Amino acid sequence: MAAKKLYACRKFFRAAVNKSHGENLPVMPSMAQGELKSSVLNSKSPIASRFRMRQKIAEHRKSLPIASVEKRLIEEVQKNDILIIVGETGSGKTTQLPQFLFSAGFCREGKMVGITQPRRIAAVTIAKRVAEESDVELGQRVGYSIRFDDCTSSYTRLKYMTDGFLLREALLDPLLSRYSVIIVDEAHERTVHTDVLLALLKEVQRARSKHEGVQTKAGDEIGVKRNGGVLRVCQGRKVSPLKLIIMSASLDARIHVEEKPGDILVFLTGQDEIESVERLVKERLEHLPEDKRKLLPLAIFSALPSEQQMQVFAPAPTGFRKVILATNIAETSITIPGIRYVIDPGFVKARTYDPSKGMETLDVVPASKAQSLQRSGRAGREGPGKCFRLYPEREFEKLEDSTKPEIKRCNLSNVILQLKALGIDDIVGFDFIDKPSRGAIVKALTELRLLGALTDDCKLEKPAGEQMSRLPLDPVYSRALILANNQFNCLEEMLITVAMLSVESIFYDPREKREEARTSRNHFASVEGDHLTYLSVYRESNEFLEKRKTESSEAKIDKIMKKWCKDNFVNNRSLKHARDTYRQIREHVEQMGFNVSSCGNDMLEYRRCLAASFFLKAAQRQMDGTYRALESGEIVHIHPTSVLFRSKPECVIFNELMQTSKKYIKNLTRIDHLWLAELAPHHYKTDDEMNDLTQDDCFYSVRDGTPTEANVKGKLFV
Ligand code: CDP
Ligand code: MG
Repeated sequence: MAAKKLYACRKFFRAAVNKSHGENLPVMPSMAQGELKSSVLNSKSPIASRFRMRQKIAEHRKSLPIASVEKRLIEEVQKNDILIIVGETGSGKTTQLPQFLFSAGFCREGKMVGITQPRRIAAVTIAKRVAEESDVELGQRVGYSIRFDDCTSSYTRLKYMTDGFLLREALLDPLLSRYSVIIVDEAHERTVHTDVLLALLKEVQRARSKHEGVQTKAGDEIGVKRNGGVLRVCQGRKVSPLKLIIMSASLDARIHVEEKPGDILVFLTGQDEIESVERLVKERLEHLPEDKRKLLPLAIFSALPSEQQMQVFAPAPTGFRKVILATNIAETSITIPGIRYVIDPGFVKARTYDPSKGMETLDVVPASKAQSLQRSGRAGREGPGKCFRLYPEREFEKLEDSTKPEIKRCNLSNVILQLKALGIDDIVGFDFIDKPSRGAIVKALTELRLLGALTDDCKLEKPAGEQMSRLPLDPVYSRALILANNQFNCLEEMLITVAMLSVESIFYDPREKREEARTSRNHFASVEGDHLTYLSVYRESNEFLEKRKTESSEAKIDKIMKKWCKDNFVNNRSLKHARDTYRQIREHVEQMGFNVSSCGNDMLEYRRCLAASFFLKAAQRQMDGTYRALESGEIVHIHPTSVLFRSKPECVIFNELMQTSKKYIKNLTRIDHLWLAELAPHHYKTDDEMNDLTQDDCFYSVRDGTPTEANVKGKLFV
């Protein structure tokens, strides 16, 4: 072993010297390994520094707890079809195991190891790290695929991706035949995609082992899913078994406390909170003496563009301490080196869905015990650390033990549509790990029927349902794009709308400059509502960009764009992200054969399209100035950030319902209430039409806010 290492080491050194300098350094065959190393390490050439870096990485890899069990792990994978690996965060599961599998030959004959992550950022950063450790270019042997960003090639053998991405891939290749191993990582997070994936992977595994060795051709059926639907071969090849590895983090045994210099990690609930704390920290710093100002606040949350997310991983400049303001993204899926202190206020923003009301809300709720332990475990990964919990100890005892799995608290329409597209018809009988309530399933099926994705007997509607399942968007947004293309001739506008709605906050609203911000954004504001306002922002920024594109370098354009955003109180990061998203969804719809055309200045056409798309989220003004959401009957208020906050139109559609001190609706457009009955006649009727209905049709009046004949099929108004 030692001799082999020495040889490899020499060979590298010699080749390096010859290539880079042409010098003929004396590398004598008799040279001892130690001498050779020291001459390499002392050299200042770029090759030598690369060599040093490689050596550092190798040492780091060797020092990880997982390194000592490599052989045993590989044996276990070979022996077992399903393996569950539980290990402390940071022990090397995510970065090392796939590399072990590669070395052990699991990627022969073009096969891949796929590793799923619940979060996009984790898929990207870990793939980058593993590419670096393997000394390959990202996107070659090691790559990642996340929604709107595919960084893989035909050479990719280790593929990191989100669990949602793999689920989508199963639509195209139901047997996932290019994978020899699939690792479902962070399974303890229990995202809805992870839950569904696990059930699905079991079926795929069963079919693949049953037909092992059989030569197939495209279109062959080689298995029937327990819940209906067939597993069909997408590309002809010999069937090989699939290994399934499920990994999760164990909770740390709590930590020996000793204060030392080190970075700080603060858990906050979302972008807004992070940005205001970031500003606060910066402001406070200005009041500190010069020598105490060496604190560098950095933000990380999932809506942040990747390049900016990466900044938290870079070491702080000498003498500085980093303070990282993060959402629960930093709980398990990413490891930020150098953290010694954790500040945990004990809250988390959770999306909850109430199936009885059909409402999704984004609430700030107490974190669970498991989450709090996980957060504290992020301090002192590489040395002693300390966690400050900003709540009394007795409150900790009251917390729930663990977070409810997402599948029990989210809108299921997206995942059910995917299951339907995978050919799984019996959703109620599907092998979920934690079965969502029947009510939630029925609600989602109803919604999908109303959106035209499923037929009345809950089969996939073709082509609309099929198209909707292929777009990486919530079904309601996919429907908006389809309608914009087929019926309203405003696909260009709707693409911009969907992209702008996909970012958390497009406007930058510093608390202390709210009025100034409002004035400088006035020219974007449309009396028709927020969607048109977003359109103006996008278009104006685009025009601004186009004009300068020819005359400036990319870096310069970036700079002037930043200034434009600052002057207009627009969030530069969000706008960039929206532009990127626009480009990617556009590619998707073009691939589906859509022709991207614009309705020009015909904003009536566009607003009608919004009404036709978001009819399930319509609200009508009441006598007292509050609004009634027509679907749930709930009393809601227009959010102060909406351009319609003051004008209070009679009827609106909205995209988001948020519960804080009150129930607020956000992202609104004014519509004519008669459009609802005209554009969604299966759901709304006018008084006149009501006369023609029979008792069985079951519509009810929402005109005065009190349903007269409560029923499920539809709503009557006017
Ligand atoms: O999956 P697990 O939590 O067990 O660990 P991992 O993500 O494989 O990380 C192992 C080690 O690699 C961490 O302790 C970090 O020191 C390092 N790492 C890194 O430096 N940069 C990354 N992007 C990921 C991991
Ligand atoms: Mg991991």
